[in-house]
Amino acid sequence: MKLSLTLLFSFTLIFAACSGGESGQESGASSEPQQEEGLSDFEMEHGIGPITERMEISDEIDGEMRARGQEIFEMKCEMCHNMEGRMVGPALGDVAERRSPEYIMNMILNPGGMARNHPEGKKLVQEYMSVMPFQNVKEEDARALVEYLRDYNMNN
Ligand code: HEC
Repeated sequence: MKLSLTLLFSFTLIFAACSGGESGQESGASSEPQQEEGLSDFEMEHGIGPITERMEISDEIDGEMRARGQEIFEMKCEMCHNMEGRMVGPALGDVAERRSPEYIMNMILNPGGMARNHPEGKKLVQEYMSVMPFQNVKEEDARALVEYLRDYNMNN
C-alpha cells in the first residue's frame, strides 16, 4: 500500500516534469518532498550552484575574457561539446540564447548538483545518458566561458 502510493506519487512527479515547460510555477501549499519543488524561482531559471544572484553583464563582449574562454573551451569542453551538433553533450552554439549566463555558470561549476536536482539538468541527463563531470573550472573561468559562448551565439 505504502509502496504503491509512493509509486503513484513518483509517476505524478515524472509526468509533471515531462509536461513542465514554461507553465509550472504554481506555489500550491503541497507537502511535496524537497527536490525540484523545493527550488527557488532563481534556481529554476538560473540554476543551482555558487551563482545565487543575477550578475551585471554588459551587452558588449569583453574581448579578453572571450579569448580566455575560448582557450578553456578548447582545453576542457571540446572533447564533449561542439558548437553545432550533438556529441557526448548538447551543442553549445546557441546555449547563450537558451540559458542565462548564471545558469551556464552554475552548470559549469556544479554539473552534478544540476544533474541531480534541477529539472532541466535531469532532462538532459536522460537525453544524453551521461552526467557532465566537473572540469575543475574556477568561477572567473566559468565567466570567461560565458563570454565565449555569448560571442559565438551573437556572431554565428
Ligand atoms: C565528459 C564530457 C563533458 C565535458 C568534458 C563537458 N561537458 Fe558539458 N555536458 C556534458 C553532458 C553529457 C551534458 C548533458 C547532461 C548533463 O547535463 O549532465 C552536458 C551539459 C552541458 C551544458 C547544459 C546545456 C544545456 O542545454 O542546458 C552546458 C552549458 C555545458 N555542458 C557546458 C560545458 C562546458 C562549458 C564545458 C567545459 C568547461 C563542458 N560542458 C564540459 C558532457 C560534458
